[in-house]
Amino acid sequence: MNSNRLNINFASLKLKNPTVLASGILGYSAESLESIVEGGVGAVVTKSVGVTPRIGYANPTVVQTKCGLINAMGLPNPGIDAYVQEIRHAKTVLPVPLIVSVYGFSVEEYAITAKKAAEAGADAVELNVSCPHVKETGSEIGQNSETLAKVVKKVKAAVQKPVFVKLSPNVTDIVEVAEAAVKAGADALTAVNTVRAMAIDVETALPVLSNKRGGLSGPAIKPIALRCVYDIYEKVKTPVMGCGGITSWRDAVEFFLAGASAVQIGTAVAFENAGVFEAINRGVAAYLKKKDFRSVKEIVGLSHRS
Ligand SMILES: Cc1cc2nc3c(=O)[nH]c(=O)nc-3n(C[C@H](O)[C@H](O)[C@H](O)COP(=O)(O)O)c2cc1C
Repeated sequence: MNSNRLNINFASLKLKNPTVLASGILGYSAESLESIVEGGVGAVVTKSVGVTPRIGYANPTVVQTKCGLINAMGLPNPGIDAYVQEIRHAKTVLPVPLIVSVYGFSVEEYAITAKKAAEAGADAVELNVSCPHVKETGSEIGQNSETLAKVVKKVKAAVQKPVFVKLSPNVTDIVEVAEAAVKAGADALTAVNTVRAMAIDVETALPVLSNKRGGLSGPAIKPIALRCVYDIYEKVKTPVMGCGGITSWRDAVEFFLAGASAVQIGTAVAFENAGVFEAINRGVAAYLKKKDFRSVKEIVGLSHRS
């Protein structure tokens, strides 16, 4: 979908359109990310990578619900030293910005991984401070504004690329966390990661996921994610990527009106394949044209006027 109306500048990245693949939905290989680019995506985020390789949790790691997925993968990843080759390769084949998602079990681990990812060619790094199912990382860091600020400052000092901070909805006040991230130097925010959830098998009378608890994604969390973006936009002027349950152009437009400058899409790709990006872009472009707007930027935060 080529429409000038869809072009955006996001935290100094130039995107042909405002739809972005969310972290973790596809594997790590440049080939799988390439298949998404053919679907018309504006940028891609990789699955989260850390300092050392991790196998992740035993199966089952994903369970389908009526309106989404609950996952507790346990951050399986090859480790950044192995992954830098793939980042370099991806940069030679991907015609869209590559955002590498990183996590760590300490402030230092975030900085080391982010530095290596940026040096290998990542156009930006996204800090996963919001994974709800692995102890001592993810949301355990993102729920504590002081620790989060230390992580962001250390990463900002280590990399010259834009730093995005991916926030958790599993907090009392997401605005407080967003403000802490921005004060510490975040160039952009991604809102949000999955919502803590679980499922129980009535036959075995046991939790379905091997980790018992996981994170809910998909249409069920859209209203929660939208409210998070709306709340953040009211207080924080740093650009936001809205994420959570987006499946259609209407969902995407709602996020722009709430204050997101771009949207990330995850579960819908797993359910509907890469064509979802093209369909959303067509719908957004048609909406902008019909309403006589020249760009996505013109509708960002529009629902806040009183
Ligand atoms: C199977 C699966 C794996 C995920 N892995 C990651 C991950 O590695 N890092 C991360 O930051 N978010 C991860 N997420 C969260 C998504 O990036 C996204 O924030 C969330 O699913 C909400 O968006 P959606 O409803 O469009 O899927 C994962 C989600 C799913 C469903």
